[in-house]
Amino acid sequence: MRKPYLMGNWKMNQLKEDIDSFFMSVPKNIDWNKVKCALAPQAIHIPYLIEKCKGSGIAVGSQNCSAFEDGAYTGELSLNALKEMGCAFSLIGHSERRTLFQESDKSLNQKFKLCMKHQHKAVFCVGETLEERESNKTHEVLERQLRDGLEGLSDSHLPYLVVAYEPVWAIGTGLTAKPDQANDAHQFIRRFLKEHFQVDSQKVWILYGGSVKPANIEELLEKQDIDGALIGGASLKGQSYFEMVEKAVSI
Ligand code: PGA
Repeated sequence: MRKPYLMGNWKMNQLKEDIDSFFMSVPKNIDWNKVKCALAPQAIHIPYLIEKCKGSGIAVGSQNCSAFEDGAYTGELSLNALKEMGCAFSLIGHSERRTLFQESDKSLNQKFKLCMKHQHKAVFCVGETLEERESNKTHEVLERQLRDGLEGLSDSHLPYLVVAYEPVWAIGTGLTAKPDQANDAHQFIRRFLKEHFQVDSQKVWILYGGSVKPANIEELLEKQDIDGALIGGASLKGQSYFEMVEKAVSI
């Protein structure tokens, strides 16, 4: 029911020449019906990437969006302008936004609500730090991030929601959560969405993120509640990204 979703988060990397090289590795015979592919480049490259992705089945999104609709908010990234450009989704609450840019559950909830108002797909990121995991607070943290960040969620929003579970200790560190460990967190998230918001959480894609690469993607995707991956470093090179896409197609 939930075909694998492979989303690349390029963070503040890639210039146009890197994007051009990325597309030299697109495999000729991918069955795009068996996989959902998406890339989130730096905002300034969204139109360029949309052009590049035409006809490929790859959706293009942003790594962030403003909590404000429009007006005097210098430097913000307007959701309406993103949509106008053809941007298909926005990441909300990536751990780098939470920690380096002090984004709170409350401000993330404003962004989430704005996305829902405009029927724009929100990829809502949650995850615990190493300290929180070691002190057995993983569930407590996930619960708070979901309860406060997704406040207002209802069934009509589900086509526009993807959740990404990204344990902070696994992001960019080379440490990946063990497939069972990740699957447990995904099951917890799915159950919490169902019980707290009373929504049909079987309809929600829950992606795993944190040092996903060609060597570990299969064992993660084989788990029942892991519906795809949010991939940073290993999505920067076309060869590595498309190797993961091919593996996802064959599962
Ligand atoms: P990583 O990043 O794959 O480089 O660990 C994942 C992310 O931050 O989304």
